[in-house]
Amino acid sequence: MAIRNIRVDDDPILRKTSRPVTDFNERLFDLLDDMKDTLYKSGGVGLGAPQVGVLRRVVVMDVSEDRSDYIELINPEITSIEGSQTGSEGCLSLPGLCGTVTRPMVVKVKAQNREGKWCLYKGEGLKARCFCHELDHLDGILYKDKLDEGECLYRTDAE
Ligand code: NI
Repeated sequence: MAIRNIRVDDDPILRKTSRPVTDFNERLFDLLDDMKDTLYKSGGVGLGAPQVGVLRRVVVMDVSEDRSDYIELINPEITSIEGSQTGSEGCLSLPGLCGTVTRPMVVKVKAQNREGKWCLYKGEGLKARCFCHELDHLDGILYKDKLDEGECLYRTDAE
């Protein structure tokens, strides 16, 4: 296991569309293990494979305070959304910035696990926001593309 370099700012790989995972092999397991390490090391709540330079449809997440809700999503798809929430969002690939984005309040996702088995997930609040944010990464979309009308990016270190 290893920490991988997080791609930031205008790195063109962040704007590309990722390909589905077809081979559930050691190479995938290494990627997942490294992404988990990188997520925890960076203190983030979610990470998409493009953020570590790999254009595959893979996401790891843990939105819990005590790091007890780790999940791996392979070839994830949103199956339903409900309600809405407006709040501040940030991204490990846009360090030092945040912005206001409106997202669904409840999101259901289907995804494969590392054995290739399809599983269903439901997220509310932060977890729903994270599902949307991370799945966007797989299509080259960043939260700054989706800022609410009239909103701009803020520096998190602004005085
Ligand atoms: Ni992000």
